[in-house]
Amino acid sequence: MSFQVKNNIHWVGKIDWELRKFHGDEYSTHKGSSYNSYLIREEKVALIDTVWKPFAKAYVENLKQTIDLNEIDYIVACHGENDHSGALPELMRHIPDTPIYCTKKCVKSLQGLYHEDWNFKTVVTGDTLSLGSKELVFVEAPMLHWPDSMFAYLTGDEVLFSNDAFGQHYASEFMFNDRVDQAELFAECIKYYANILTPFSPLVIRKIKEVLGFNLPLDMICTSHGIIWRDNPAQIVEKYLEWADSYQENQITIVYDTMWESTRLMAEEVAAGIREADDEVTVKLHNLSKTDKNDVITEIFRSKAILVGSPTINNGVLVHVAGLLEEMKGLKFKKKRAAAFGSYGWSGESIKIITRRLEESGFEVPGDGLGLTWAPDEENKARCRQFGRDFAGKNAIR
Ligand code: FEO
Repeated sequence: MSFQVKNNIHWVGKIDWELRKFHGDEYSTHKGSSYNSYLIREEKVALIDTVWKPFAKAYVENLKQTIDLNEIDYIVACHGENDHSGALPELMRHIPDTPIYCTKKCVKSLQGLYHEDWNFKTVVTGDTLSLGSKELVFVEAPMLHWPDSMFAYLTGDEVLFSNDAFGQHYASEFMFNDRVDQAELFAECIKYYANILTPFSPLVIRKIKEVLGFNLPLDMICTSHGIIWRDNPAQIVEKYLEWADSYQENQITIVYDTMWESTRLMAEEVAAGIREADDEVTVKLHNLSKTDKNDVITEIFRSKAILVGSPTINNGVLVHVAGLLEEMKGLKFKKKRAAAFGSYGWSGESIKIITRRLEESGFEVPGDGLGLTWAPDEENKARCRQFGRDFAGKNAIR
């Protein structure tokens, strides 16, 4: 399969309809994904990125249907990660001397992954590669999201090849942003940002401002996953600036796990209290043992505040809660409030543990949380609702 993107640019990648887990088991891909590779056939021919290893042979066979591989003058590797470089070994078996343009750090990634000494040509920001009447301009984008990442911009066609940036894990036969369901598209975009790019938000803002400073006209953004932005491509750039700036909606998310329903009952009473205090805020509850982790992180990303609940077990917290707390530490959320709650029988350490981990993760934690013994009776249900009312307000939690 291949199709024309614009003029002499063709998509030659792979749509992965079956993908349900990415980065090992780390990222859920409910709607599949795609590995986008682009062939630019000007006076000189350049191939931008490849696909993941399981599709390497099919990718090269498909590419052969489109072009004699010996006609490829240059390969551009915008990022070394396996999902974009996995087909390089198979491709380079056919054209071993073809130069690979990439950043210095990408050479390290590719050599580290494949142990091959290919014909690497390293580039830095501002370097160009002439394809004849048009040229590729390279812009390093370190930590978006690997140290080796870079963008490539094709003059004349005004197309930015952005690799992972502005992408999403979303399989669609339509492949262009104006042809797909907008709610689905943006749900996958924000999930991608929340789960992958949140820790790098300061760099996202800096890099976008740098690229905007070049005043390059922009007709399309060709990402390495999901759809191509051809209708108002600036809209996803604006969204990134918004998401990178300590994004929050008027939402409070309550996440918890429970052993015998007591912590769940607490969560529901706390939610009722928040609702009593503020009938405009969106309140969402997620049992962490029953909800996809990446979807929960997306809800937290959208939230101005969160509450995290766990009963105490063996002087600690339940494993799904521990896992989320560990993940949130790395995500470095900013300007969000948080509090802990949970039920216990005797020792009750979970509240302190959660509170400490939330503080370590950069949340503003305005109180000691709420721990209650055993199943909440009517008096303790009322305490939960009061806790929710207080949390919804601006005052410190009691
Ligand atoms: Fe899609 Fe960072 O690889």
